[in-house]
Amino acid sequence: MHEIDVSQPHAARVYDYLLGGKANYAVDRALAERFLRDWPELADLARANRAWMIRVVRTLASQGIDRFLDIGSGLPTADNVHQVAQRIAREARVLYVDNDPVVLTHGRSLLAADERAEYVEAPAQDAATILDRADAFLDRDRPVVVLMSAVLHYMPEPPADIVAPYVRWMPPGSHLAISHVALEGHDPELLARIREEYPQQHVRPREEIEAAFAGLEMLEPGLVDAQRWRTGEDAPVGPQPLLAGVARKLATRRAP
Ligand SMILES: C[S@@+](CC[C@H](N)C(=O)[O-])C[C@H]1O[C@@H](n2cnc3c(N)ncnc32)[C@H](O)[C@@H]1O
Repeated sequence: MHEIDVSQPHAARVYDYLLGGKANYAVDRALAERFLRDWPELADLARANRAWMIRVVRTLASQGIDRFLDIGSGLPTADNVHQVAQRIAREARVLYVDNDPVVLTHGRSLLAADERAEYVEAPAQDAATILDRADAFLDRDRPVVVLMSAVLHYMPEPPADIVAPYVRWMPPGSHLAISHVALEGHDPELLARIREEYPQQHVRPREEIEAAFAGLEMLEPGLVDAQRWRTGEDAPVGPQPLLAGVARKLATRRAP
């Protein structure tokens, strides 16, 4: 396990601060505040993302899916995936994955009393390690939801390359859920500033996010602003879209 480095800001703790959490350090708060000065809508975006993720878990748990692989899970917060899912399906199992050791420490203490949820510390790029653990903890013969909520934009690799081994592994009837900060709706000046000052954020065009769902059947309403995903047409949409979508793996994959 890696040491906790509090001299560098980390995405999980910056996001925790944006959501009003307490599991963050001065260095994370400083970066979050700098972000907020440049991009005041960011806290709304974080909340909209979290609300989308909870809607996805509720929707799919209500359809009988009770296995979740939450990659880039973030720090435990008010409504965690296993809590939301287990309210609907008591036996729901969740494997959480994050590459931040702080997430693992907080996560393990939250989950001490729950045998149906577990944390793994690994980068999403290390699919072999993650899927090995998933094989042991989630049943291979049941549909799984692979959640990649607001995590792919921290990785330089194309989203389609990151998700490919997970999609191959998913049993038929499984779902892939992705939210990702997108170019759509960004004012070009802000975009240039984000690219220059926050190179660790990979704000991508729609097509690159869409490519991650190749061969899967996209659920309604498609890849849309997270605030528009099953909230009705009148839902407010902030000026900085976060694209979000969920797709199902059929028994026979469609040609991409
Ligand atoms: C913005 S938070 C999202 C948390 C949660 N998924 C949600 O949507 O509320 C991004 C999370 O991704 C994690 N992360 C970033 N890069 C990662 C990587 N390469 N592998 C695994 N986790 C990563 C960060 O540590 C952080 O916890």
